[in-house]
Amino acid sequence: MIRVNENYAKLQASYLFSEISKRVKTYQGEHPDKKVIRLGIGDVTEPLPPACIEAMHKAVDEMASRSTFRGYGPEQGYDFLREAIAANDFAARGANVAADEIFVSDGAKCDTANIQELFADKLTIAIPDPVYPVYVDTNVMAGRTGKSSKGRYKGFVYLDCTQENGFVPDLPTQPVDLIYLCFPNNPTGATATRAQLKAWVDYAKANKALILFDAAYEAFIRNPELPHSIYEIEGARDVAIEFRSFSKTAGFTGTRCAFTVVPKSVVGYTKKGEPVPLHAMWNRRHTTKFNGVSYPIQRATEAVYSPAGKEQTKALIDFYLQNAAIIRSTLIELGYTVTGGDNSPYIWVNVQKDSWKFFDMLLKRAQIVTTPGAGFGRCGQGYIRISAFNSRENVEEAMKRLRKVLK
Ligand code: MLT
Repeated sequence: MIRVNENYAKLQASYLFSEISKRVKTYQGEHPDKKVIRLGIGDVTEPLPPACIEAMHKAVDEMASRSTFRGYGPEQGYDFLREAIAANDFAARGANVAADEIFVSDGAKCDTANIQELFADKLTIAIPDPVYPVYVDTNVMAGRTGKSSKGRYKGFVYLDCTQENGFVPDLPTQPVDLIYLCFPNNPTGATATRAQLKAWVDYAKANKALILFDAAYEAFIRNPELPHSIYEIEGARDVAIEFRSFSKTAGFTGTRCAFTVVPKSVVGYTKKGEPVPLHAMWNRRHTTKFNGVSYPIQRATEAVYSPAGKEQTKALIDFYLQNAAIIRSTLIELGYTVTGGDNSPYIWVNVQKDSWKFFDMLLKRAQIVTTPGAGFGRCGQGYIRISAFNSRENVEEAMKRLRKVLK
């Protein structure tokens, strides 16, 4: 008899963004004449930077000739890309990350989910609330929690992120083994200072814990005081793994390229307390289960770091940040308390009403798709998240509609 993984039964019926897309599809089916504006899932709308397109075309041409054709590449990524990442994303910011500590992959979503394979079944896991649902759902699938009751799974240590703590969680009051952090934050758009990250690094050291640091939105940071990488914090190399993505940085949501940094100095422990380097374990996992990102895509990604690519990706991010500023100022003008949208593409709005009801109201009355805060956890109840990823025209039209409906 083929038995199933019964942990799946603990999950909500569908993944947050699938549920939203189902509701939007139903609405659209009933109102085919209405123009829906999507400010829900953070999916980019603007074309890839020309430097990336040019590099991709060139690489495709190389694949057409026997002398330049490439088959399997290194699973961890080509050296040309890993070296460009190490130099530009880390060395340039004073962070010590070697090229061979970088694992190129097809997405931070997959990597944040897959990394758990390295850890024991029984762990105490600290999960911020609200949170990117992938961290929660994948641990539930792996059987690391009990059932859900009133929006919370038994077994997690939830870290409340609220208006009062600026949506940066306080340290747990009990020892935990694994800590998820994401800054600039998805969904709240909050950022963490060096001092706040240092406190987490010190906590992880003291408790032999590991931080999984999701920095997928670092490119949106404009405040020069804020760290972009956890490795800018002293000691982080021993206790943190960092996830990055080109999805939002360079418009690669459909192109797929990301990377994970596993420093050679970061360790986990055996039952007996012996340290085990996680780099070697992740390398083993990655080479066994992943065959690498395609050559043309890695060349396109390398072009992000060329002088033209840097200029073009900055312009792309500036464009979305200008959208975010328009959304932010409209909501403030309408009397709402908002977070994010300055160093982040997400605007977190305190609507003081049931999130899903507010979501439905905006869909039906303004034909605007947002993301209900409650979908990110119990502390997200009463909030909605608005994404800045859309054309200027659509953002302006959406704000016009919001003004009408919310004034
Ligand atoms: C989001 O909207 O939270 C993100 O687009 C989801 C993702 O990157 O997987």
